[in-house]
Amino acid sequence: MKTIISALLLIIVSNLLCFSQNKIWDETEAQKKERMQWWTDARFGMFIHWGLYAQAARHEWVKKNERIPDADYQKYFEIFNPDLFDPADWARKAKAAGMKYAVITSKHHEGFTMFDSKFTDYKVTNTPYGKDIIKQWVDAFRAEGLKIGFYYSLIDWHHPDYTIDRFHPQSAGTKEEYDALNKNRDMRKYREYLKNQVREILTNYGKIDILWLDFSFPGEFGKGRDDWGSVELIKMVRLLQPGILIDDRADLQDFAGGWDFMTPEQYKVDKWPEIDGKKIPWETCQTFSGSWGYYRDEYTWKDNKQLLVLLIESVSKGGNLLLNVGPTARGVFDERADKALKGMGDWMKYNSRSIYECTQAPEGFQVPANTLLTYNPVKNRLYVHLLDYPLQNLRLPGYKGKIKYAQFLHDASEIKMSEPRQHDWGGDNQGTGDVDLRLPVLKPNVEIPVIELFLN
Ligand code: GLC
Repeated sequence: MKTIISALLLIIVSNLLCFSQNKIWDETEAQKKERMQWWTDARFGMFIHWGLYAQAARHEWVKKNERIPDADYQKYFEIFNPDLFDPADWARKAKAAGMKYAVITSKHHEGFTMFDSKFTDYKVTNTPYGKDIIKQWVDAFRAEGLKIGFYYSLIDWHHPDYTIDRFHPQSAGTKEEYDALNKNRDMRKYREYLKNQVREILTNYGKIDILWLDFSFPGEFGKGRDDWGSVELIKMVRLLQPGILIDDRADLQDFAGGWDFMTPEQYKVDKWPEIDGKKIPWETCQTFSGSWGYYRDEYTWKDNKQLLVLLIESVSKGGNLLLNVGPTARGVFDERADKALKGMGDWMKYNSRSIYECTQAPEGFQVPANTLLTYNPVKNRLYVHLLDYPLQNLRLPGYKGKIKYAQFLHDASEIKMSEPRQHDWGGDNQGTGDVDLRLPVLKPNVEIPVIELFLN
C-alpha cells in the first residue's frame, strides 16, 4: 500500500513539475477562448508575402532554390523601389474580399526587413525606396478596421551568424562540411538579433493582433526551439503584447501558451484537428497559385469556385483561411490576384453570413449530397452550400422536425419544404424523417448558392 501511495505521489509530483516547466503563459481555457474570439469569428484573412524576392519573381525561396550567393542577391537590395505601393488600396481590396485580418512578412527567409530596424542595415529604409513599409501598411490596414499580424521568419539567409543548415542556400552534405562552414558563425548572436527584432516589431507599431513565426525544422542540420531561444522569445512576446495570437511554428507544441493555433499549410485537413481528443484552433494558409512570393510564370491558379470551397470547407471543419497575395515589386497586386479577390468579394457580399461567426455543424446533422455545412451557434442557423446545384430537389436526410424556415441566403427568398413524395417508380421515402427542399430549376447567379435553415 505504502509503495503504491509513494508511486502515485511520485507520478503526481513529476506531472506537476513537468507541467510547471512546460508553461509559458498562465491562462484558463475560458480566457484563451475569449482572447481568440475575434479571430475565431473572423474566419478569413489575407496573407501577404512581399520582399526583395518579388523582383526575381520566381518564388520567395529563389535564393535557396538557385543557391544564389549574397553578393549576387545584393542587386535586388540595390534596386528595390516599389513606386506604386499604396497600402490603402491593398486594405480596401482585402476588406472588399471579406477578409477581417491580414498578416504581412516583416522579414522572410532572405533576411531583408521591410521595417526600419536598429539592428541591421539590410532593411527597406536603406534601399532606393527609403521608407518603412511596415509602418505605412499597419496604418492603412488599421484604418480599414482590419486586424494586424506580422509574419517574422526565424530562418535568416543573410545574417552572418546564422549557422548554415539543411535549408540554407549554402547547405552542404557532411558534418565536416557544415562544421567548416559554421566555424565563424555564432547562433547565440543570431538568437539575440532575432529577439531584438521581434521586440522592435512588437513595440514600434502599436497593438499587434497576430505574430506568425516561421519555421522550425528540428533534426539533423536543422533548427528548433533551442536554436531560436523559443521559450524566452515567446515569454517576451506575451509580455509585450498580452492579447496577441501566436502560430505554432516556434517548436513549442508541448508548452502551454507556446502557441495558439495550428497552421496546416497548403493542406486540406480531413477533419477538425484534435490533440488528445480536444478540438484545437486552426488556420490553413493557402496560395492562389503555387508560390507565396510573386511568381510571374506560375500558372496553376485556383479558380473562383475552388477558392470559395477552400474557405467554406475550412469553416465547415471549425477553421480559418489565410489566403495569400504576393504583390509585385512595383507594389501592386497582380491582375490575377485582383480577379481572385474580386470573385471572393462578390460571393462574400451576399453570403458572408454563412462564414463569419460560423463553425462546424452540430452532430446529428447529416451532410446532404454535394454540399458543405456551416453553423452559427448563436443564431442557431445552419447553412447548406450547394457545390453542385441539384435538379429541383435537395434531400435533407433526417432533418424532419428540425427546421423552422428555409431561404436562399443571397436574396432571402423562401424555399418550400415538403416530405419526400411517394412514387410508383420507386422512391419509398415516406416516414424516413427526410425533408425535401424545392429548388428553382434555374441555378441562382451565385457561384455557390447557400440555403439558410432556421433551426428549431
Ligand atoms: C513555408 C515557407 C514559406 C512561407 C510559409 C507560409 O514555411 O518556407 O516560404 O512563407 O510556409 O506558410
